[in-house]
Amino acid sequence: MSDLNRKVRFQTSEKKDGNEDFYDNTDNVMIYDNYQTEGSPAPPKLQDDATKDQQQTSHDKSNWIMERNQLWADNANLTSERDELQSSYSDVKSHNHNLTQKTSQLENENDHLQAVNNNLTKERDELQNHIDKKTLDFEASFETLTEQRDELKKKLTDFVHYSQQEWKYFSGSFYYISSNKKTWHESRTDCLQRGADLVVVNSREEQAFINQYRKSMWIGLTDSEREGTWKWVDGTPLTTSFWYSGEPNEGRNEDCVETMFYRNKHGWNDVICRGKKLWICEKKMFL
Ligand code: BGC
Ligand code: CA
Repeated sequence: MSDLNRKVRFQTSEKKDGNEDFYDNTDNVMIYDNYQTEGSPAPPKLQDDATKDQQQTSHDKSNWIMERNQLWADNANLTSERDELQSSYSDVKSHNHNLTQKTSQLENENDHLQAVNNNLTKERDELQNHIDKKTLDFEASFETLTEQRDELKKKLTDFVHYSQQEWKYFSGSFYYISSNKKTWHESRTDCLQRGADLVVVNSREEQAFINQYRKSMWIGLTDSEREGTWKWVDGTPLTTSFWYSGEPNEGRNEDCVETMFYRNKHGWNDVICRGKKLWICEKKMFL
């Protein structure tokens, strides 16, 4: 190759897509033999040298053709690889575009879900507060109802108890009329021991109820604390009274009251407390 000037020129055009690394037109490959710089005359050669040169040239040509073929093949492979890469690149680009769109959609969905989540969290907290408040209300109601139930149970127990002891029921109270006689204070103690007290007369009806037994009995009225100030055993002052005519006459130490003139609607009399008389207890049922 020493004396042979050669040049291979690939006559190619640049790809329109600007990819200068790839050439796809193998038809334009040109090979020039005995290439010489312009204007330099060929040197004179001897016969033997000419034959040798011819053989060498033939040999080189053959090599050149092989090399050219190899280059075509390489070029074809590279073109194919390039096309595959371009195709892959295009796929990746398209995939990337889809992913970008998907990401955007997911971001929107995420924002939406975040908003929904915030609302639901708020609603949940409100409901929880509501439930907590209702639970407290319920617990308070339950406690109240339990207390009321226990009170009613006790009342029912009392009701059954006093009914079975043959007490008389009238307008929310049970009444017990003694069969023996005691002082006013002993009588009161007896009533208290029975879970009751001497009767407190609050109405005409109640007075009439007592009178129907036609007995002179102690009632729960006294002025022993302060002379002239009549007070019921439950601590209330006397407002509605049923004194017999001329009573209370505040006779000698007459600090306690009996239903003496029971045939009369107004039959009360004040009398000394240490006298022994029948008595009447009252157990209020608060029904
Ligand atoms: C009087 C009463 C008095 C009573 C004493 C009656 O005759 O009318 O006022 O309390 O005697 O036992
Ligand atoms: Ca009297």
